[in-house]
Amino acid sequence: MAVGLFDSGLGGLTVQQAVAARLPGVEFVYLGDNANAPYGVRPPEDILRLTRAGVERLWAEGCDLVVLACNTASAAALKTMQEAGLPEGKRVLGVFVPLIEALTERNWGDNSAPRQVSVQHVALFATPATVASRAFQRELAFRAIGVDVEAQPCGGLVDAIEQGDEILAETLVQAHVAALKRRMPKPEAAILGCTHYPLVEPAFRLALGPNVQVFSQAGLVAEALADYLDRHPEFGTNGPGATGGTTRFLTTGDPAEVSLRATQLLKQPIRFLAA
Ligand code: DGL
Repeated sequence: MAVGLFDSGLGGLTVQQAVAARLPGVEFVYLGDNANAPYGVRPPEDILRLTRAGVERLWAEGCDLVVLACNTASAAALKTMQEAGLPEGKRVLGVFVPLIEALTERNWGDNSAPRQVSVQHVALFATPATVASRAFQRELAFRAIGVDVEAQPCGGLVDAIEQGDEILAETLVQAHVAALKRRMPKPEAAILGCTHYPLVEPAFRLALGPNVQVFSQAGLVAEALADYLDRHPEFGTNGPGATGGTTRFLTTGDPAEVSLRATQLLKQPIRFLAA
């Protein structure tokens, strides 16, 4: 059975690359909702509607387990979808928790009371919708006390990355980091809270300077998914007909154009088909 990966566009490919490398025996189906990206400037109701449609599309592809490789969808839609109840045998996971567990030095699924942690000043870079949801701060408050989070909504950045405009993307990263540093001059850690941002991680590192520990999601999500599949072997295993180690790429956008941009961004051939 394949595992579904969903993002508004190309950012989730950072997660796809990490999970496919970490779990070479597992088959994945990636769905990018490029026709509707970016999500980060949309109201929460819109994000919920689009995310639900994407997840249902992946369920129809036979992916009983779907990972929202998108913080904006995880922040605006995951809790509501889970609380409304998922169909029998279906699961949806987000990308927030592995990141927060790494930041708060917890093991996967450790639900003990919130405690003091070593980082106190954390910069969060995310889409306007993720920042507005305060989902990151809410999840953090369950696990850590005394952490000061300064959040920077990085308007325009996902668009620039999706368009492949590297110069604009780097300029925006510098501007957003400078804006954050005016409010928090010395962050100890920075969270890249959008799966598109690892595609411009060197620009973030350069603008933040060498003393800031940068937390980026892809590797953390891959470890968390490996652990989840160990505990839930009914998902993502090599059942009859499975073609372990491959990913099928689907898009709601124009497959030729999306394939070209994905290939440019990842510097390897990626071929999308129409969803
Ligand atoms: N990759 C998505 C995320 O992690 C980007 C959201 C968007 O489309 O604005 O939030």
